[in-house]
Amino acid sequence: MSLPIVAVTRQLPANARDHLMAHAQVVCWESDCPVTQEWLLDHLPDAVGLYCLLTDRIDQDVLCCAKRLRVVSTMSVGYDHIDIRTCTAQRIPVGHTPGILTETTADLAFALLMASARRIVEGADYVRQGHWVEWKPNLLLGQDICGATLGIVGFGRIGQAMARRAQGFRMNVLAVRSSRQDRDALELPCVAEIHGEVSDMPSVTFVDLPTVLMQSDFVSLHIPLTPDTHHLIGTSEFHMMKRSSILINTSRGAVVDSGALYHALQDGTISGAALDVTDPEPLPASHPLLALPNCLVIPHVGSATTATRSLMADMAVENVIAGLRGEPLPYCVNPEVYD
Ligand code: DGY
Repeated sequence: MSLPIVAVTRQLPANARDHLMAHAQVVCWESDCPVTQEWLLDHLPDAVGLYCLLTDRIDQDVLCCAKRLRVVSTMSVGYDHIDIRTCTAQRIPVGHTPGILTETTADLAFALLMASARRIVEGADYVRQGHWVEWKPNLLLGQDICGATLGIVGFGRIGQAMARRAQGFRMNVLAVRSSRQDRDALELPCVAEIHGEVSDMPSVTFVDLPTVLMQSDFVSLHIPLTPDTHHLIGTSEFHMMKRSSILINTSRGAVVDSGALYHALQDGTISGAALDVTDPEPLPASHPLLALPNCLVIPHVGSATTATRSLMADMAVENVIAGLRGEPLPYCVNPEVYD
């Protein structure tokens, strides 16, 4: 009996690939660049499964030609690149990789907080460019982290992991709840739990978004991109923030209005920003944000550790295999397809 075809939009780590190949005939986009729409339109009509990444637009056009598709699995926790409504209407379950990247992504968010507070990248550039010829009392003055207030927007798994880190640095933590995320956060494993660590929930004061913006020294975004959160942080929100505050975004770029951010950073409405995600993404080297010394941008590497990316690939493969078997996906975005 021939194995079902699974279209895979990037090369897989060896373990994940071997596991998938035991259950499916894998048709893989071989390049290291994002898959093209043409490739998807060519290969999806025969595919029973699709393994994709956050760079791939799985929209209505793609899904309409995928008449045999029984499962879509993305190697990411975020799924704003997939038309979930159409998948659900076509009764296609969509899998993602929640939990496994929580601690890794929170590490990166906290690293951005520290790097921007203490101007680490500016300092490294200063040395590399040969400017370090003497010690100066006012050189590269930054902001204290201990005792500062961190505002967490979205208190799901990653937001909570960020709060635990902040507690270790004796920060005050304010948070805006997001009820669906908070519920999910209690149910899923993360890498630290897999390694047998247990952490207590830090003490957090729950407030509304304006209060977080007005009272925080650092505002860190941990919410998914949805129609409700698109440009959640724009001109009026920047004007609520302290002039000394720093924005950290490791969620999705379009949660922030990039044009408004540029103006806020340029005219001193806020003091800095540290972004792992941008809008557009990738951010072209000519983008005005990159000309600002108070804007630190890195290329969407929140979950980018060898261990976490490998676990994400395994989890995404688990979702595909369950879908091929007609079993409920272990990590399903739209479980209503099973109703
Ligand atoms: C995700 O998984 O959605 C992150 O943005 C990348 O790991």
